[in-house]
Amino acid sequence: MKTQFYYLFLLFAYLVLHSCKENSETATGDSKNTIVNDIHSNAKPDQAVVKHLSLELTADFEIKKLSGTATYDIEVKEGADTIILDTKDLDIHQVTLDGKNTPFTLGKDDKWLGQALSIPVSHDSKKLIIAYSTRPTSEALQWLVPSQTAGKQHPYLFTQGEAILTRTWIPIQDSPGIRMTYDAKITVPKDLMAVMSATNPQQKNKDGVYTFQMDQPIPSYLIALAIGDLEFKSIDKRTGVYAEPGMLNKATDEFADVEKMVSTAESLYGPYQWERYDVIVLPPSFPFGGMENPRLTFATPTIIAGDKSLTSLIAHELAHSWSGNLVTNATWNDFWLNEGFTDYFERRIIEALYDKSYSDMLATLGLQDLKAELKDLSPEDTHLFLNLAGRNPDDGMTSIAYEKGALFLTMLEQKAGREKFDAFLKKYFADHKFQSMTTEKFLTYLDENLIKPNHLYVNVDAWVYKPGLPDTIPTFNADRFMKVDTQVTFFVNGRKASKLETKNWSTHEWLHFIKALPDSLAEADMVDLDNSFGFTASNNSELKDAWFKLAINQGYGLKILPEIRSFLVNVGRRKYLTPLYTALTEKGMYKEAKSIFDEAKPNYHSISANSIQAILEKTAPKI
Ligand code: BES
Ligand code: ZN
Repeated sequence: MKTQFYYLFLLFAYLVLHSCKENSETATGDSKNTIVNDIHSNAKPDQAVVKHLSLELTADFEIKKLSGTATYDIEVKEGADTIILDTKDLDIHQVTLDGKNTPFTLGKDDKWLGQALSIPVSHDSKKLIIAYSTRPTSEALQWLVPSQTAGKQHPYLFTQGEAILTRTWIPIQDSPGIRMTYDAKITVPKDLMAVMSATNPQQKNKDGVYTFQMDQPIPSYLIALAIGDLEFKSIDKRTGVYAEPGMLNKATDEFADVEKMVSTAESLYGPYQWERYDVIVLPPSFPFGGMENPRLTFATPTIIAGDKSLTSLIAHELAHSWSGNLVTNATWNDFWLNEGFTDYFERRIIEALYDKSYSDMLATLGLQDLKAELKDLSPEDTHLFLNLAGRNPDDGMTSIAYEKGALFLTMLEQKAGREKFDAFLKKYFADHKFQSMTTEKFLTYLDENLIKPNHLYVNVDAWVYKPGLPDTIPTFNADRFMKVDTQVTFFVNGRKASKLETKNWSTHEWLHFIKALPDSLAEADMVDLDNSFGFTASNNSELKDAWFKLAINQGYGLKILPEIRSFLVNVGRRKYLTPLYTALTEKGMYKEAKSIFDEAKPNYHSISANSIQAILEKTAPKI
C-alpha cells in the first residue's frame, strides 16, 4: 500500500515538475528567454508581456512629480485576458488600449511589492497607454534642492531602480527576468539637462526636451534618469563623463583610465555590447557607490579621491556590462550571478590594467568583510542561492553575493586553470547575451562546459546551497598586507606613529592598516595616529569611513564628533552610513546618532534613510 502511494506521489511530482518546465520554456514565445517565477513581481509574463516601452514625461521640480504617459508594445499569449504591471506609490490617471479608454484595477498594497495594476486585454491587443504621475514620496526618485548639489544653483533629480524600485516611477513589469527596449522624451526646466541609461545628449538644448533610445533589451531595474545642471566631457572616443560643471574636470581626470578599462574588459570576455560607456557623477546623496545603468554608470562623488585610488568601483560597474546587464540574474534570489561575477571580473580588470598585488589587496579586503559579515547573518542568508520570499530583495545585498560569489569563481578558475576558465566565461556571455539566468541554469551550463569536460571535482552544492564557506577556499597573496600588519604590531607595542614605515602605501594598505588596529587603543594613540596621518581630515572617503568607525568603537568618537557629523550629514552612501550609525548606537551614543540623523535625513535618499531609520528604531532606548 505504502509503495503504491509512493509511486503515485512520484508520478504526481513528475507531472508537476514537467508541466512547470514546459510552461517556462514556451511561456514568452521567446524560446531563449526562459520565464521563471519571480516572487518580487506581480507580473505574469507567461500571459502577457511588455516588449517595448515609450516614455513621455515632464519633470516638475516645484511639486516633485514626474508626469505624462508610458506607452507599451505588448504581446498577449493565446487564451490570456489580463496584463499585469507592477506599481508602487503612483497615481494612475487613465489607461488606453489600442485607442480605447479601458478600465483597470489596482490590487492590494504590499509593503515591498506595491500594487498590481491589472488591465483586461485580448490576444490581439497591441498598444497600451498609461497616463500617470509619480508622487513626491516615490522611492526611486530623489529630488534635490539646489543646496544639496555641488553648484548650489539648480535642483537635481535622479532615479535608482535596482532592485524593485522602478515600479515607483514607471508602471512596469518589474522583474529582472523580463527584458524590453525603450525610448523616452523627457521635458525638464530649460537650464537643466536630462540623461538616461540610453543614447544621451552631450549638450544642453534650448527647449529642455530630450529624447532617448535604448535599442538593446534590458530589464526594468536598469531604466534610469538623471536631471541636473550637467555638462559632458569626453575621455576618449566612446567614453566620457557627465557632472555638474564645477566637478567635471576633476572627475574626468580621475576617470582617465576608463577607456583602457573598457578595452581590457573586452579582451577578457568579449566585445562591449552597449556602444558608449559614460559615467555620471551624482550628488553625494546617491545611496550607492555605483549603479551599472547601461551606457551610463551612475557614481557617487565620494570615489573622486584625487589619485584614482577608488576607481576600481568604475571597473566594477563597467564589468556589469557583461555580468548583469548582458546576462541578468533571473530573480533577486540569483543576485550572486550579478554581483559575484562582477566582483570577480572587476578584480581581473584591475589585475590586467595595474598589477596582481593590487587586485590581491582588493580580494583580501573583500574576504575580510565577508568573514566579518558571516558572523551576523542567519545561516540561510549565507547561501549563494537565496530565498528572499516575503522580504525586501535589498536584504540580499550582503557580501555573500559579492564576495562568496567571487570566491566561488576564483576557486573554479584555480581548478580549471585561467585559460580554460576565461574561455568558458567568454562563451557563457556570448551564449546567453541579452538573456536572464537562473542559478540552476548556470550550474547546468557550468557542469556541461567546464566541470565535466575537464574532469574537475567541485563541491558545487556546498558553495551554492549550503551556509558559510567550504573548508577550502582560495587564498590571495598577502605580501603587501603582511608588511602593514608588521607596522600595526610595532604601533600596538609602543612605537610612535611617525616612526612607522608607511612610505609608498596605497589607499588599500592604509585601509588595511586602519582596519587591523585594535579597538583597545588609548586616546593618546588615536591622537598620535591622527596627527601623523591626518585621517580625520582625509580627502579619501574610504579611509575617513574606516577611521571614523574605529574612532567610535574605540571611544574617540566624541572628540571628533563634529567631523563625523559633517561626514554623515553630507554623504548619503549607505555603505558608509550603516556601519557608522551602528557603531554609534552600540557605543552608547544613540542620542548623538539620532540628532545627526534628524539633521541629515533631508539629504538622504529613501534607500539610505530607511536603512538608518531601521537601525535607530532597533536600538532606541526603552523609556
Ligand atoms: N548593482 C550594485 C548596486 C545595487 C545592488 C543597488 C543592489 C541596489 C540593489 C552596484 O553594482 C554595486 O555593487 N555597487 C557597489 C560598489 C561595488 C564596487 C561593490 C556599491 O554601491 O557600494
Ligand atoms: Zn555591482
